Amino acid sequence: MKRLFYTLSLALALVSCSTAPKSADSAVDQRVEDLLSKMTLEEKIGQLNQLSSMNNLEDMAKQIREGRVGSILNEVEPGRINALQRIAKDESRLGIPILMSRDVIHGFKTIAPIPLGQAASFDLEAVEAAARIAAIEATNDGIRWTFSPMIDIARDARWGRIAEGYGEDTYLTSLMGAATIRGYQGPDLSDPTSMAACAKHFCGYGASEGGRDYNTANITPRQLLDVYLPPFQKAAEAGAATYMTSFNEIDGVPSTANSYLLKTMLRDAWHSDAMVVTDWASTSEMLAHGNTYDRADVAAKAINAGVDMEMVGETFIQNLPQLLKEGRVKLSTIDNAVRNVLRLKFRLGLFENPYVDENKRVAYAPEFIEKTLKLATESAILLKNADETLPLSSKVKTVALVGPMADAAYEQSGTWTFDGDASHTVTPLAALQAINGIKVLYEPALTHCRDQKAAGIASAVAKAKQADVVICVVGEEAIMSGEAHCLADINLYGKQKDLVEALSKTGKPLVTVIMAGRPLTIAKQVEESDALLYMFHPGTTGGTALVDLLFGKAVPSGKTPVTFPYMVGQVPIYYNHKNSGRPAAGTELLIDQTPVGAGQTSLGCSSYWLDAGFGPLFPFGYGLSYTTFEYSNLKLSKTELAKNETLHVTFDLANTGKYDATEICQLYIRDLVGSVTRPIKELKGFKRVALKAGEKTTVEFDLNMADLAFTTLDMKHEVEPGDFKLWVAANSDDNTNEASFTVK
Ligand code: NOJ
Repeated sequence: MKRLFYTLSLALALVSCSTAPKSADSAVDQRVEDLLSKMTLEEKIGQLNQLSSMNNLEDMAKQIREGRVGSILNEVEPGRINALQRIAKDESRLGIPILMSRDVIHGFKTIAPIPLGQAASFDLEAVEAAARIAAIEATNDGIRWTFSPMIDIARDARWGRIAEGYGEDTYLTSLMGAATIRGYQGPDLSDPTSMAACAKHFCGYGASEGGRDYNTANITPRQLLDVYLPPFQKAAEAGAATYMTSFNEIDGVPSTANSYLLKTMLRDAWHSDAMVVTDWASTSEMLAHGNTYDRADVAAKAINAGVDMEMVGETFIQNLPQLLKEGRVKLSTIDNAVRNVLRLKFRLGLFENPYVDENKRVAYAPEFIEKTLKLATESAILLKNADETLPLSSKVKTVALVGPMADAAYEQSGTWTFDGDASHTVTPLAALQAINGIKVLYEPALTHCRDQKAAGIASAVAKAKQADVVICVVGEEAIMSGEAHCLADINLYGKQKDLVEALSKTGKPLVTVIMAGRPLTIAKQVEESDALLYMFHPGTTGGTALVDLLFGKAVPSGKTPVTFPYMVGQVPIYYNHKNSGRPAAGTELLIDQTPVGAGQTSLGCSSYWLDAGFGPLFPFGYGLSYTTFEYSNLKLSKTELAKNETLHVTFDLANTGKYDATEICQLYIRDLVGSVTRPIKELKGFKRVALKAGEKTTVEFDLNMADLAFTTLDMKHEVEPGDFKLWVAANSDDNTNEASFTVK
């Protein structure tokens, strides 16, 4: 293991060339050193201890007074926060403020779509704005540190936490993560509305075997460097103030004891001075992992690997004094961890003002709602629209609104919404009822998404028969995705499939809307519906966004940030896979076409599933619009380039349909031959382009040859000379506009 990490560190020296060392913050560093020099060992170790909020304020106060607490998570009541800060400032020996933290994952009060939905917008500005709103609302209540963004690459929809990240693609996730960090932290951490971000989970958590949470991740060193680490490097470049170690192990080493991640990468390669926190008791969980003997061994391994602060596990506070005496942990190691904690507190301006204005309320401000609505609208993905079912015509006067997610304010907000008040959430029912001149016949049919009682379906069908159109809103309750909520079957649950089927037989136009935390296996519902809109749990403004889209006030633009499988057995499934030695041609015999008694042969066979074929239900980057777009006239500034050059790519995009709309144009490349095999496609750029009906424009991309680098056979991060293909495309499966170039 050590040798492997050593080899990797060599590779990293090259990765790190692009990351300039952070400029020294000498004034802050001076304050840190002054304070550190006054601290007792107990006070130092106290700074490395994060408590979970307790009901009993006095218990917390006592520990703060004694200098045993550096941070508290989950305390959100401004009055209590002020009381605790007052004790820290006035009653502890050195007056060090407490860093108040919380999981503010996709909004604090105003809830934005879940991160997977945000990724579908491909709109970095809107995503940054959502994070800014979350920061303004959360800091107003005293939270100065959030455990977000989650930038784990997830290629397996069984994993419940796929909801919390930006999907399967390294490039998209890197940019989304950086935008979110910028939004939380604002231009300067010392601004009272700035909230320290936390790049998590460092690293590889999204690769949990079998899509089962907390499970082992099997990641090769090269995959770690090329797929899983780049979003964390980008986070360092964006100035992420903190990192969180992940629960999983990689190749036998739990992240909380992984010095390769926490030192070689974070400190040496990326020059980050971020503070590193563990995940919840991921220290003591190393006992279950089986790489530590006892809690003292846990503390030693974690702090020696590069952890600064321990989230609730309390192995540091209990064991570091003795470990120091025994020489198993050095004082300089503890001091460095304390420096990282104090530096953040100084940067946040907590020493100047740890308090919050208890009378100021900023939640749900109209501009927050407006920006969140924009993002929710852009996050919706139109997956089918037969015969222009959508937008609904002005002739539609009676709408049957059906399904357990049609009026489920809490559920449509998705996972991790501790603080959002569901009474502010606009459901599809509320939004539809607010439209003048539309009669709404509402019938949930099922009480919730897992409801197994089919009795309500008949009444939904009866209502459908009286309507001009049926809108059926199904999906997953919030608790069906997120942490620890993994599924081995990713189909619609309960009697929802029967509901969609019954409605499809009414002969009325059926618009199915799915609100879920993951891509579901919905091939049958796609077939049965005339139109299908996918909304990853859309949050506070989800109902308004949906109704705007249904009636054409807005036009869908979202594209899939993850591949949608036909069947769960296809996962992990993702667009940028390797070709294999026997790629499927698409003409393979499926199970029903295979003759009974057919003879076994290996000749001419290829890589596919007898029942599912080869491809996905929907590829990465896919989404329809009410209008149509045409790509043409692809031009490259050069076809032969040196490794340090930039390729200028242009093409024409025309809106050839009837609606003003936005297209998410994507740029993909393929490195045809490498010293190691290369993915069949890689996303290298995207742009949201707004065009009026009939309008045409020239779209431009710049592709730096340096961005074609990968981890080569000898573990160097390099661009290899050779031939490349390039596509400008509407999705990852669109090969129509192709060009070639060569790197010399
Ligand atoms: C455990 C989760 O894995 C992590 O993402 C979260 O931030 C912490 N708990 C704190 O709630």
